Amino acid sequence: MADLHVVILAAGKGTRMKSALPKVLHRVAGLPMIEHVLAASTALGPRSTTIVVGHQAEAVRAALSTHPGLTFVVQEPQLGTAHALLMTEPALRAARGTLLLLSGDVPLLSAKTLKTLADRHESAGAAATVVTAVVDQPEGYGRVVRAGQEIARIVEHRDATEAERAIGEINAGIYAFAIDGLFAALGAIASENAQGEYYLPDIVALYRKRGLGVGTFTVADADEIRGINSRVELAAVSRIVRQTKNQALMAAGVTIEDPATTYVDPYVEVGPDTVIHPGVSLEGRTTIGTGCEIHSGARIVDSTLGDRVTIRNHCVIGSSTIENDASVGPFAHLRFGNVIAERAHVGNFVELKKTVLGPGSKSMHLTYLGDTTVGSGVNIGAGTITCNYDGVNKHQTVIQDGVFIGSDSQLIAPVTIGEGAYVAAGSSITHDVPADALALSRGRQQNKDGWATSRRARQKSEHR
Ligand code: UD1
Ligand code: CA
Repeated sequence: MADLHVVILAAGKGTRMKSALPKVLHRVAGLPMIEHVLAASTALGPRSTTIVVGHQAEAVRAALSTHPGLTFVVQEPQLGTAHALLMTEPALRAARGTLLLLSGDVPLLSAKTLKTLADRHESAGAAATVVTAVVDQPEGYGRVVRAGQEIARIVEHRDATEAERAIGEINAGIYAFAIDGLFAALGAIASENAQGEYYLPDIVALYRKRGLGVGTFTVADADEIRGINSRVELAAVSRIVRQTKNQALMAAGVTIEDPATTYVDPYVEVGPDTVIHPGVSLEGRTTIGTGCEIHSGARIVDSTLGDRVTIRNHCVIGSSTIENDASVGPFAHLRFGNVIAERAHVGNFVELKKTVLGPGSKSMHLTYLGDTTVGSGVNIGAGTITCNYDGVNKHQTVIQDGVFIGSDSQLIAPVTIGEGAYVAAGSSITHDVPADALALSRGRQQNKDGWATSRRARQKSEHR
């Protein structure tokens, strides 16, 4: 294969999105749409990848800052797709071979399709190859006008006649070009059209007039080349990505009770025999083991779950690890940096932050544990609170193996509860508790016999 160079157009405003956010940064299944495009093109191992930015250039550049080796070219002002590609000429001056032109707003394109495009383009020795698709609703797309078998030109929807608008074959906005002669040809494109822009698709008619070879590659699955120009299209494309992911998971042995309401981001992994109930979101870099059960309303972000883990209804879990046979919820909030060790249980209305709950330990009700290390076999009573913040700094709480914390206790950090110790219910613990001790820190109870009887008698005489 010849040298491959990729250019992705992402300078447009995305007017129809009606958004302060650049269009290509709107998320499709959890990832900015341009990330999907990059994932497909990177898989081909191109020699260079150039992104044309313009509208909110800095925001787009910043969003892609984790990708090494990208070249950014600024198009200012944005005068159309041909003008956008022309801006890459200085960056690609030394480039030879094939240029794949992709659009930042066409995120479903697969690496396989791109590879086939490059192969066909090169084996045909064409000057340009246009990706097309036959669709039921071609509104908005450029139409492919053929002369016999051959592509003659592309006409934009706005510039098309009624007869041309009836054409069901559309331009995907994805092309392979021979780099040789490309930029000179782009310079010859005019802007006499409804939008007064320099249209890249006009290169087809130009090349044909010059007798150069222009091929087409019609994709079998038209969904792959759907462009996103509006929020309605964003939702439609997102649904396709989600359902593709859900189908792959089900094929791999995951039960998804209601795929229509299950949101799993592209990079999430789920093991076989895990059951996902309706209305679950699994986001970011989340990995879930085998035989787990994730109940409705759970949102799990950037977290790792072992095997046979149960997440009950309406839990919010971020950047945490939950080991084998543990359970969480319902209504638990694991904010970030938590480890729930094997067989440990977190119950309802429990919030954890940067907390390790050791093997087999339990915190079942109405509790906040922050910056806390809990050993194994510990029982944390209902309503326990670690007071980890003094208004300036955060402090650590250590609860060693086998400890029993009575209900409604406050552990005022920094503090350590020694192995096997007990904390009596309702205690405010300000000092370390030695191993195997009982810490009791609460007001002593007094009972005043007959007090209520005499109060009632007093009230009665006052109201007479
Ligand atoms: C474009 C094609 C159309 C095709 C459709 C497929 C043109 C003129 N039309 O239409 O034939 O059917 O894609 O989805 O190319 N961009 C720039 N700079 C600009 C203008 C646009 O970088 O000056 C970028 C946009 O950010 C976007 C891409 O180019 O990523 C396509 O632009 P857009 O305005 O969405 O073109 P369409 O009207 O969808
Ligand atoms: Ca578009």
